[in-house]
Amino acid sequence: MASLRRFTWLGLVLILVGCRQDMHDQPRMKTYAMSDFYADLRSARPPVEGTVARGQLHEDTYFYTGKIGVNPGDYMPSQVPVNAETLARGRERFNIYCAPCHSRLGDGNGMVPQRGYKHPPTYHQDRLRKAPLGYFFDVMTNGFGAMPDYAAQIPPDDRWRIVAYIRALQLSQNAGQADAGQAVPSNSPEFEEPGSGATPPIPVPPSSQTGEEQK
Ligand code: HEC
Repeated sequence: MASLRRFTWLGLVLILVGCRQDMHDQPRMKTYAMSDFYADLRSARPPVEGTVARGQLHEDTYFYTGKIGVNPGDYMPSQVPVNAETLARGRERFNIYCAPCHSRLGDGNGMVPQRGYKHPPTYHQDRLRKAPLGYFFDVMTNGFGAMPDYAAQIPPDDRWRIVAYIRALQLSQNAGQADAGQAVPSNSPEFEEPGSGATPPIPVPPSSQTGEEQK
C-alpha cells in the first residue's frame, strides 16, 4: 500500500515537471508588431538591398514585361522560337484561358460575355492588328480595364506562346492575295475532252493553253 502511494506521488511530480510553457511563449514577433529593439520601432526587417528570392531574378526584362523601356516591343524573345510547337501550345493555352471571353476566333463573342460580362473588343480590327507583340504580353501580365491579369495562371513563356497564336489568328482572318502566293482565283482548267463521267477528262497540255495570262 505504501509503495502504491509512493508511485502516485512520483507520477504527479513527473506530470508537473512536464508542464512548461516554452512552446507557447516563443521569442518571436507577431506580424507587424512593434519592437523597441530597432531604431525604426518595426519588428519586421526589410530584406537587405539587392536581395533576390530564388527563381525571381528577372534580369531579362523584355521576356518578363514585353516592354523596351516603357513601350511594348514587337519581337518574340529568343527563349520562345516561333514554330509549329509554339503555336500548338499557344492555341491550347489560348483556348483554355482566353477563349471563354474572346472566343476561339478572337472576335470577343465568348461564352462569358454572352452571359453578361463586358464584351471584349475583336482582335480583328486595325488597331489590334497593328499592336506590337509586347502589347498582348503586357495585357496578359497586367490586365486591361475590366479584364483581369493572367500572370498568376500563365507563366511568361506560355504568355509569349499565346501572343504568337493571337498573331496567327489575326493573320488567319485577314489573309490577302499576297499571303496565298498566287493569283486568286486561279484560272479554271481547260480540257481537250471534258470526259463523260465514265471517262476521265483530258486536260489541254500546259504549253498550248490559251486562257487568260496567269497574274
Ligand atoms: C473574363 C473574360 C476575359 C478573359 C478570360 C480574357 N479577357 Fe481579354 N479582355 C476582356 C475584356 C472585357 C476586355 C476589354 C476590357 C476593357 O476594355 O475594359 C479585354 C481586352 C483584351 C485585349 C484588348 C486590349 C485593347 O487594347 O483593347 C487583349 C489584347 C486581350 N484582352 C487579351 C487577352 C488574352 C491574351 C487572354 C487570355 C490570356 C484574355 N484576354 C482573357 C475579357 C477577358
